[in-house]
Amino acid sequence: MSHNLNIASIRGDFPILNEVVNGKQLVYFDNAATTQKPRLVLDALAGYYEHYNANIHRGIHHLAEKATSAFEQSRKRLQAFLNAAHSEEIIFTYGTTDGINLVASSYGRKFLKEGDEVIISTMEHHSNIVPWQMLCEEKGCILKVIPINDQGELLMDEYEKLLTEKTKFVSMVHVSNALGTINPIKEIIAKAHAVGAKVLIDGAQASSHIEIDVQDLDCDFYSLSLHKIYGPTGMGILYGKRDLLNAMPPYRGGGEMIKEVTFAKTTYNELPYKFEAGTPNIADVVAAKFALDYVDALGKANIAAYENELLAYATGAVKEIEGLRIIGQAKEKVSVLSFVIDGIHHQDIGVLLDQQGIAVRTGHHCTQPLMNRFNITGTSRASFAVYNTIEEIDKLVQGLHKVKRMLR
Ligand SMILES: Cc1ncc(COP(=O)(O)O)c(C=O)c1O
Repeated sequence: MSHNLNIASIRGDFPILNEVVNGKQLVYFDNAATTQKPRLVLDALAGYYEHYNANIHRGIHHLAEKATSAFEQSRKRLQAFLNAAHSEEIIFTYGTTDGINLVASSYGRKFLKEGDEVIISTMEHHSNIVPWQMLCEEKGCILKVIPINDQGELLMDEYEKLLTEKTKFVSMVHVSNALGTINPIKEIIAKAHAVGAKVLIDGAQASSHIEIDVQDLDCDFYSLSLHKIYGPTGMGILYGKRDLLNAMPPYRGGGEMIKEVTFAKTTYNELPYKFEAGTPNIADVVAAKFALDYVDALGKANIAAYENELLAYATGAVKEIEGLRIIGQAKEKVSVLSFVIDGIHHQDIGVLLDQQGIAVRTGHHCTQPLMNRFNITGTSRASFAVYNTIEEIDKLVQGLHKVKRMLR
């Protein structure tokens, strides 16, 4: 599939790409950790603070009304982005981690009981492991883990064997941050529903690469972070089916999430406010809309086509490097290239590439159990976004040759 993107013009939208690092023009390949922000997102943030900074929902003055309206427009924009049926199914959170904790705490505490089983996979980020471990410890539930093959793909037969009438929840990553694997979540969701389990999808890595239609997927919950979709840090959303969210108790108590408070009893607000206690991250929510507008203007299919070109080129190029092994070779992948090089520590690779102005991530990528599965302590990971180029990948390959020369 081809794309019709003007990459030079796209690069011009991202001021940070002009930074000079260690005397070299920045090559930013740490996009799976966080993407850079286009000018219109930066302008939206400044515009909010310069022209209509006010607390939302409770004010009746002009600025408060303008801020509230922009905040709620973002909710509608996110509803459209995920094709959710109702805007109140979009809960603003601090990010993917916060959304998963919300579900594990609220849904998990209310609906799971001793002996119930929760299924996750070997390739989960710690943020989709630890909240479930905490819940299982508290409630006496059992955590089961779907194994993967050496390419980094889920063993679907093993998943089916784990599913029983005891399975009450499946929490699964859509796209692995450490491997790039795209999981067959529609099938995973349907199979979980067949035994009566609910499903949360961790969409942190998927949302900038793949079209997401929560109604078509039929997932019960979908959690994501805007900072991975060219938007601001510190905010994300949790999508949840309305009847489930209505049945769940609040996650945090405080202002905004209440209907009426007396010392004897408090009644709670309706959705989505029941889950949005306290002053939210207004500026970032407002700016998030502009990030989504930016992505949609480019077109996710175009972005994915271009990123796949980058991934194919980089995969071919690094294979020429002796002693380099790619970790994560799934048939269905996004533009994440994780690798190890025989005899060279991943941290040394990261430091020496940084000296050449190239930013990659090294370490366990918050997936220690996955690293154990591959018998490694970490990888170096280059992850590509729409503003990256073939020339930058050539610099990475040259950089890796240099690292090898220096350390051998
Ligand atoms: C797959 C996956 N899940 C969850 C997270 C956590 O996202 P956040 O730190 O924005 O809450 C990340 C972040 O890297 C991720 O890659």
